[in-house]
Amino acid sequence: MEDTLGEESVAVSFDRTVSFDRTVRIALLVLISVAPLTTATAHGRGDGDEDEREERDEAAGLPAMDAADRLVARLRYVRSDYPEAMAEGDARELEEQVELVEEAVALAGRLPLTTGARTALGAIGSAVARSAPAGEVTSACDALLVRLEAELWAELDAPDATRLRDGAALYAETCAACHGSRGEGPAGSLALVPAPVAFVDADVAAQLSPRRVYEAVTFGVPETAMVARGDTLTEAERWSLAFYVAGLGAGDGATGSAAGSAAGLPSRTLEDLAAATNAALAGEAPTGVSPTAAVAAWRGPEVAAAAASPWLAMRADTRAWVTGDGGDEALTRLRDRWKAGRKQVARTDRHLAKEVDAALAGVAGARGGERGGERGGEHERARDAARALELSLGNVERALR
Ligand code: HEC
Repeated sequence: MEDTLGEESVAVSFDRTVSFDRTVRIALLVLISVAPLTTATAHGRGDGDEDEREERDEAAGLPAMDAADRLVARLRYVRSDYPEAMAEGDARELEEQVELVEEAVALAGRLPLTTGARTALGAIGSAVARSAPAGEVTSACDALLVRLEAELWAELDAPDATRLRDGAALYAETCAACHGSRGEGPAGSLALVPAPVAFVDADVAAQLSPRRVYEAVTFGVPETAMVARGDTLTEAERWSLAFYVAGLGAGDGATGSAAGSAAGLPSRTLEDLAAATNAALAGEAPTGVSPTAAVAAWRGPEVAAAAASPWLAMRADTRAWVTGDGGDEALTRLRDRWKAGRKQVARTDRHLAKEVDAALAGVAGARGGERGGERGGEHERARDAARALELSLGNVERALR
């Protein structure tokens, strides 16, 4: 991102009036975005307001994607670029950060978030507007990003494991020219500013998660050579790249996998593997297993492939049901799949089968009983029921492995 202003002029232009103005802008946005929330979630997607924003986003050259993925991507830009903008005291960069948070707040207004998450986003907005210390903003972003993964599980693009084994080939074809054939960074002859990151760099690798790579590939990084590929690569291709790239810094995945399975590493669901940074995985290595070996094992392609069990289809249907994309058909599919798989689960763990029975009944009963004028409440019930089913299905995946 370019730097057109000299440092002296920045110090002058960046005064209290500007900060105040920004603070007010963000505070207003937070207010506006909280107000229409109940109606927005009750009526689902597709209102005129959304069309208008989508047009604006299209105009900015981005593919039309869901608000949740965009929101997370915006927040990540702030997380990674704000410290640099502060260090350089670049007024234009700082203004860009404020705009990113404003976009994030607007996107959040269309999503079913808790008041706590909204307040946290508002707090990041005012911190950025008053040029708070970088550490304050980055740790608030980190905390909120973790929270958004949990609160927006149904809205975020679900990891797709159907092409995981193509990651290496796709990488060689589309990414290696800039990021190096093994993620070691660009060759000296490639003079791009900013330079493409080296995925094997320990600091970079620690912060990578497949979801973060997926978002970078889908949306690109504005004003850099990292262009958006949401239109040119399929979702499955982007996920295969995401899992592959996140594992590049973890060393030899093949050896790691062997070491990891020998050590009886706890298994994880595909969503979980997609969301976790390498640093987080390292922190969860069981005693007796080196963090490096644990990360390499968890990032091995066969581990991710194994995490993509048939139960993933049920979990996808659960999302489709709760976001309204699949409606009654999704519920029918859920019932059929459960009918087909229940016996296998019950043989392994009778209580778990009953847990899924109950969760599925909860989903079936969460909507439909039209209680006059209580649409917001119904939406809450549906989300809670879907979340309970999602968690039970995660337990099933783990139990059957
Ligand atoms: C034309 C060169 C180029 C190509 C090709 C390219 N990138 Fe990048 N990429 C960059 C640059 C430059 C950056 C650094 C942007 C910055 O400094 O913010 C970057 C940054 C990234 C990041 C870090 C984003 C973050 O969250 O910090 C990821 C992940 C990434 N690229 C993945 C990929 C993948 C996967 C591919 C192949 C589909 C790819 N890139 C292809 C130039 C490229």
